[in-house]
Amino acid sequence: MRDAHHVTVMTGAGVSAESGIPTFRDAMEGLWARFDPMQLATPEAFAANPELVTRWYDHRRMMCAACDPNPAHETLTHMQRVFTSSGCRFTLITQNVDRLHQRAGSDPVIELHGSLFMWRCTGCGRSTEQTGVAFETYPPTCEACGGCLRPGVVWFHEMLPEEAIGAAQQAAGACDVFLSIGTSSMVYPAAGLVGAAHTRGARTAEINRDETPISGSVDWHLRGAAGRILPALAESLSDSPKDF
Ligand code: OAD
Repeated sequence: MRDAHHVTVMTGAGVSAESGIPTFRDAMEGLWARFDPMQLATPEAFAANPELVTRWYDHRRMMCAACDPNPAHETLTHMQRVFTSSGCRFTLITQNVDRLHQRAGSDPVIELHGSLFMWRCTGCGRSTEQTGVAFETYPPTCEACGGCLRPGVVWFHEMLPEEAIGAAQQAAGACDVFLSIGTSSMVYPAAGLVGAAHTRGARTAEINRDETPISGSVDWHLRGAAGRILPALAESLSDSPKDF
């Protein structure tokens, strides 16, 4: 990282775990251990029960809005600033829909799986930012046409936003260091980016509390909490030519 010209970072739910937001695949506390994704996170589930699906996502929106960024988010914001001000590139890609990277000050952030805070009308297609209180009725309706609103997140069986995945693939292919942080690396195409970076010659590292399918193929596997390892990593760069 001292010599890197372009660092690309991919984050997942583990980065927000220390902010109090549950991950998806934790065996006890994970959202998909407690809820069936096929009943909540597919277009079919929304068509069958829009009230339940929108209520669940709006509840998650309010819960995330009440949480704060942690040292992992803050360190990534700091790193992005240092790299950018040294004339280098730092691309931050996230699978998270909680907006905590943005609230920590990271900009730009590539949101691969959308956001809990953008809702889209299934009638007229208009997207609106929702940062206020919870909706009064479910499913919420569009102010412009009265159509049903859905959360602007990517569901199973759906394509990723074209612009976001295009930019992520470009950054994975062009970087010299790729960090995969707090993701189980089970969901594609996001999980494939680290391999693409490796094939193009980037050095790769994983920061994760646990082993994942990519742990054996990255150059470094740093095991532990992102909120502890990232500040330590930044600290270890303090003697680099970049002004940390
Ligand atoms: P997962 O829940 O699958 O994985 C979270 C990862 O973070 C696991 O490998 C944990 O071991 C690790 N972890 C937990 N706490 C950590 C901490 N404090 N520090 C470091 N690592 C920690 O979440 P994602 O990989 O983000 O998709 O899941 C990918 C996608 O699957 C999500 O974006 C979501 C889900 O279905 C959609 O909603 C479209």
